[in-house]
Amino acid sequence: METMTEIKKNITKDFLPVNGTDYIEFYVGNSKQAAHYYQSAFGFQPLAYAGPETGIRDRASYVLQQHKIRLVLTSPLQPEGDIAGHVWKHGDGVKALALWVDDAEKSFNETVKRGAEPYLEPVVEQDEQGEVKRSGIRLYGDTVHVFVERKNYHGAFLPGYQPWDPHFKTKNTGLLHVDHCVANVGWNEMNRWVKFYEEVMGFRNLISFDDKTITTEYSALMSKVMSNGNGRIKFPINEPAEGKKKSQIEEYLDYYRSEGVQHVAMATNNIIETVTELHERGVEFLKVPSTYYDHLLERVGKIDENAAPLKRLGILVDRDEEGYLLQIFTKPVQVRPTVFFEIIERKGAQSFGAGNFKALFEAIEREQALRGNL
Ligand code: FE2
Repeated sequence: METMTEIKKNITKDFLPVNGTDYIEFYVGNSKQAAHYYQSAFGFQPLAYAGPETGIRDRASYVLQQHKIRLVLTSPLQPEGDIAGHVWKHGDGVKALALWVDDAEKSFNETVKRGAEPYLEPVVEQDEQGEVKRSGIRLYGDTVHVFVERKNYHGAFLPGYQPWDPHFKTKNTGLLHVDHCVANVGWNEMNRWVKFYEEVMGFRNLISFDDKTITTEYSALMSKVMSNGNGRIKFPINEPAEGKKKSQIEEYLDYYRSEGVQHVAMATNNIIETVTELHERGVEFLKVPSTYYDHLLERVGKIDENAAPLKRLGILVDRDEEGYLLQIFTKPVQVRPTVFFEIIERKGAQSFGAGNFKALFEAIEREQALRGNL
């Protein structure tokens, strides 16, 4: 355990201070329809738009927001170029994990100096609402980090975007902020990316799970959680491990056709209300067998919630030294069995639900078997 002084020392020597997640950009086949799904099913609010009507010729981007979570949904308007290539190869997926920083140029220089491959040279974008400086570096697969410096900007989202105010609006579902974003990388690649986050980004390894912890009868994986200096950003990194049958990570890699983002975890302060609402709006969740709840309270101790709604909704509970957490996972949100979401409520616990891995992975494997991929 680090002392406060050690944490303060780490923050002062942090060469890449990050304030939080700025946005997550998905490249999708049809951003207009995807935007409607995230509004109607997840309760995101329309925020901004960029496309031909705003002078952008090659794409249409819809920006949605719920509290601190901002999603950008981008589709190409022509078959040429990187966006179309990304959608052709990967299906719908996460292109950019954008980080909110105070200095986009320094973030670029410090990471590139340490070995990051440039994606976007620092650039200043301006409109009548002010200016934003952005830069970017390449990650696993075709995924990138974009650094966003927006201290001199007052517009809806970024220069070039206009406020988007359609007549259709839905109530939010209580989603508050991005808790963590998980990467799936290839065989024997996890430690390479752990090293990347340590050396290039100045992150540290919080927790590790080996293939003995995360294994079922059939498939296995290994995972290490990387966190930045102030702990606001957490990126677990998974790689497949040998099991009797195909690892769920391998199924992802086969369908995504490369490494990429596996899931985005979004936090709520009331998981029962949030998941009840999401379920009613048609969001599909993984279900664990009802036997999971048989000895729940003996396993996790006293919790504030009633067990009945947790069981009805399929919400999982896990405890660590600092408290407990409640979590649930959606099914993949596009036709390929790739990206999905996690809904998480933390009651003190800072871990990731290792006690649920087995029950959860068995649920994932049942889905995998239905697809004929186990
Ligand atoms: Fe997670």
